[in-house]
Amino acid sequence: MHLPLQRRSFMQTSISLRMSELGILDYNQYRQLLNKPEGIGAAEWYTLVDRLTVQETRFFRDTDALQLVTEFIRERQTKQQKALNIWSLGCSSGEEAYTLAMTALQTHPECEAELAIVGTDVSLPALKKAREGRYSARSLLHIPMEMRHWTQQKPQQTYFEVNDNLRRRCCFNMVNVLDLDSYPLNPQDIIYCQNLLIYFRRWRRREILNEAVKRLAPGGLLVLGLGEMNDWHHPQLERLKYSQITAFRNKANQSEWEKTRR
Ligand SMILES: C[S@@+](CC[C@H](N)C(=O)[O-])C[C@H]1O[C@@H](n2cnc3c(N)ncnc32)[C@H](O)[C@@H]1O
Repeated sequence: MHLPLQRRSFMQTSISLRMSELGILDYNQYRQLLNKPEGIGAAEWYTLVDRLTVQETRFFRDTDALQLVTEFIRERQTKQQKALNIWSLGCSSGEEAYTLAMTALQTHPECEAELAIVGTDVSLPALKKAREGRYSARSLLHIPMEMRHWTQQKPQQTYFEVNDNLRRRCCFNMVNVLDLDSYPLNPQDIIYCQNLLIYFRRWRRREILNEAVKRLAPGGLLVLGLGEMNDWHHPQLERLKYSQITAFRNKANQSEWEKTRR
């Protein structure tokens, strides 16, 4: 994780808040806690990482990128390809993964039995929320009317839940993007990675993407946040020419692709 100098006060405040929750008064004592053996330190590291990451997200956050995803899925529907694997990388509390699930099911209902969405993130509390699939009633407003049937809300409740059809298609795993090389994952048709790379230095972003691309199936679509990676080229990928979207298609054929995975 890269915290630039401008984020110093954010870091100080986050650590101080955590220390006061624990009744710890000085940094050294907190550091000792982080270094404790037998899982105690490790558990505290997870909490600290959660406090130092920004988990801001919402349903249907980037409509331009989702329009591209819709077109990509429509193309697969035309070719009668039903299997669809989608990876939401840096999924936070799950809104992005469920957005992709709704978009896929709405665009290509026949894919339902073979749709698999995986969301990965480093924050355990965010992943817990993603698995619960329960969100404030206010966030429902971001979901287009025609897709709200994938959600359920009982009268008087101030929250809503994603329904079981949606939940069944999505799973969530804890993965640090810096350890992607040890993360096995089936070839993905869509890798959707937005608002995560900005937290890393440019050379690190390239490393992360090069590793992620090993899991992008031939013909697959890689979607990034706008402007997150303007100067990155990959021999297997073709950059798509849209002004409002940063996206690539994997132009490698099956055997070229297999070679890069070794
Ligand atoms: C701003 S949110 C973006 C959420 C979602 N992709 C979106 O665009 O709405 C960034 C997410 O990246 C996650 N993150 C930060 N560093 C990470 C790392 N090293 N490995 C995996 N996830 C990380 C954070 O926990 C957070 O949930």
